[in-house]
Amino acid sequence: MDSIIINGGVPLHGVIEVGGSKNDALAIIVAALLVPGETILHNVPHISDVVRLLDILRHLGARADFRDDGALLIDASRLTTSEAPQELVQQMRASFNLLGVLLSRFGTASVAMPGGCNIGARPVNFHIKGLEQLGATLQLDHGVYHGSVKRFTGTNLYLEFPSAGATQHLMSAACCARGVTVIENCAQEPEVVNFAHFLNSCGAQITGIGTSTIVVKGVDSLRPTEFNVLPDRLQAGTYILGAAITGGDVIVRNAVAEHSRPLLSKLAETGVEITTMSNGIRVRRTSRIHSTDIRTLPHPGFPTDLQQPFAAMLCLADGVSILTETVYESRFRYTTELQRMGADIRVEGSTAVITGVPQLTGAPVACTDLRGGAAVVVAGLAAHGETVVTELEHLDRGYEDLVRNLKNLGANIRRSNTDAVGRPIVV
Ligand code: EPZ
Repeated sequence: MDSIIINGGVPLHGVIEVGGSKNDALAIIVAALLVPGETILHNVPHISDVVRLLDILRHLGARADFRDDGALLIDASRLTTSEAPQELVQQMRASFNLLGVLLSRFGTASVAMPGGCNIGARPVNFHIKGLEQLGATLQLDHGVYHGSVKRFTGTNLYLEFPSAGATQHLMSAACCARGVTVIENCAQEPEVVNFAHFLNSCGAQITGIGTSTIVVKGVDSLRPTEFNVLPDRLQAGTYILGAAITGGDVIVRNAVAEHSRPLLSKLAETGVEITTMSNGIRVRRTSRIHSTDIRTLPHPGFPTDLQQPFAAMLCLADGVSILTETVYESRFRYTTELQRMGADIRVEGSTAVITGVPQLTGAPVACTDLRGGAAVVVAGLAAHGETVVTELEHLDRGYEDLVRNLKNLGANIRRSNTDAVGRPIVV
């Protein structure tokens, strides 16, 4: 069992480059199956969710390989089945959008209910309702949705919640529908905006991009394209919080300031110095961390995916901070791990009350989910003594080169195997 061992207390200094966005890459890779030809994607992160998704694409008959120059080539000219492999689909959330994509290409599809981080119920009712309104017939049998449609027919859709995945799913189903589809109350995350630009680069006719109302004028088919995946604002935010909690001075290259506006605005409230540049963000902390309150919201509100590492930093703030999680119903499981490190956190329903403490101490902790793992790593960077982080499979889903990047910033960190009782065996 792998573990990450951190001896904290070292202020991070230096420059790192942030990689491609997991949430952008996964959505675009799924939609590449709409294109009966070659799609070339740049800046795709090498993370386990991408590896798994590419295995699903190959199972469906597509070619999916990284070229020597690092670009990902997907050739979906000849798909051989519209039945997605159940055991792979169940391991991640983004693969569910294959349902609308395969229905659009084949007229039939079978896709299992998705998996993903254990942070709440995560139903897919908005996806199903929208696909049915577009004309699909869907049946759930033993956890697998079986669907059929002659051709999607454009219509007016309304999302009761601005769901990122449902917005992307319904956009991709509407691309080659007959007629016009209007989707109201859309998500506006940067990855949803970039996804619409990807579809338009394939010949789709989408307008209203970046607003809450998207209009998709159906076309007969999409064409091959070459496209760039966004830098990952969530990885960038995690490194920024690592620099802030350790009182360091770090430049995160490629980070896009406008994608991180909610985070940077909140960080400024805590006394952290932020300097935005044309190709990155500089973060410095030279004073005490001030407490602040956070309420997660759909973009452009504070991102639910950074609530966890931000909470780690607030454990060392002067005063009491209140975090309210409005997007998921159980995204505080990681707080028990921070409590092992001496954090003073009380969770009541969708609210966590964090009372700052003078210091955190290293401890054996587990990743409860992807961003819960980011929280314990950020805390370990500042904690006195040794922190051993296990259950790394969660972190590996969304963080590329995490240990290498933190080591390059001066952190005393390494990744190692551990024996059955968690004692590290340094390989
Ligand atoms: C995407 O998940 C991201 N994942 C999540 O990031 C992110 O937290 C989320 O968007 C919100 O920004 C990927 O892109 C792979 P939603 P998604 O649909 O699309 C409820 C990470 O850490 N809902 O916007 O699944 C849902 O339960 C991951 O990188 C329904 O009720 O999120 C949640 O409470 C975690 N019915 C809320 O909406 C539906 O049909 C937001 O979900 C769909 C969603």
